[in-house]
Amino acid sequence: MNQFDASLHTSFAAPLPLLDLCPTPDDLRGDVIAGLSAHPKSLPSKYFYDSRGSQLFEAITLQPEYDLTRIETALLQAVLPEIGDSIGAGVHVVEYGSGSGSKTHLLLGGLASVVAYTPVEISRQTLLDTTRRLGRAFPDVQMLPVCADFTRHVPVPPARTPATRTLVFFPGSTLGNFDGPRAVELLGAMRGTMGVAGRALIGIDLVKDIGEMEAAYNDAAGMTAEFTLNLLLRLNREIGGDFDLRAFSHRARWSPQRSRIETTIVSRCAQKVHVAGHVFAFERGEELQVEISQKYTDVSFDALANAAGLHVARGWNSPGDRFGLRLLEIA
Ligand code: AVI
Repeated sequence: MNQFDASLHTSFAAPLPLLDLCPTPDDLRGDVIAGLSAHPKSLPSKYFYDSRGSQLFEAITLQPEYDLTRIETALLQAVLPEIGDSIGAGVHVVEYGSGSGSKTHLLLGGLASVVAYTPVEISRQTLLDTTRRLGRAFPDVQMLPVCADFTRHVPVPPARTPATRTLVFFPGSTLGNFDGPRAVELLGAMRGTMGVAGRALIGIDLVKDIGEMEAAYNDAAGMTAEFTLNLLLRLNREIGGDFDLRAFSHRARWSPQRSRIETTIVSRCAQKVHVAGHVFAFERGEELQVEISQKYTDVSFDALANAAGLHVARGWNSPGDRFGLRLLEIA
């Protein structure tokens, strides 16, 4: 029995070969106490995505100022034939995160022949929902979901029809939410997952006009502000906090030194907040760091890929160089 057989799970609704690597659940309480005790205070952006946060993120992608998702989808659609030519037929697509969206549909439908699709996701339920939905849309593609933390190396379950190569798909510029060392680590994990003949297709947001980049994270309808502050509501509800949302505000600014949007939650007054049985003092104007969104240039992204032992085999930019797709292979 190998590791794949050993952890074969089936569900009652429809049999799904789930490879469950039993990722350690997030330690929300521990991470929050550590982050609020640090100087400066910080919280991991992965905690934005409770069910309300995920809905708010979807709403952000529809705002006129936040055009990343629309531009990436159009770019992918336009260059899919070239991507297909570069990677050939018989591919096993491995997606980091649950690809329930239009980009996954485009990729699976647009490549010459995809033998299998493996979404990698830490939340078991999201993973199963995504897999069932995509399984209905692509009955000829073998669905091989893996429940795992994709920041570590993920073994790819073997497909019924042996694949010619693995293609790791990581769209949305989600890589930009990881700081430099963690982005290199993640690319390194991808390198292990894709194997010698494999490729990775990564979406990256590019440096552009500062006003436009800042507007994307300060939309007029206030969706991004609500998304950011929802994190405090989550803490109140899930680990016992008394954040008063009226006493905090969202701030997103361009950092020219670091070439990224930095999002913080600003305390409007001096105050004390109780969280998980601890008391945390905030000064007036103090900023709690909650997210970075790195923006890349050709040079900065090449350097990042090289640091992980990868190199850019092909790249495509949207009109006006707003967003890019990069096809990586082992250097
Ligand atoms: C998911 N990620 C790439 C988004 C970004 O642009 O950093 C998350 C986001 N945060 C605020 N708006 C969108």
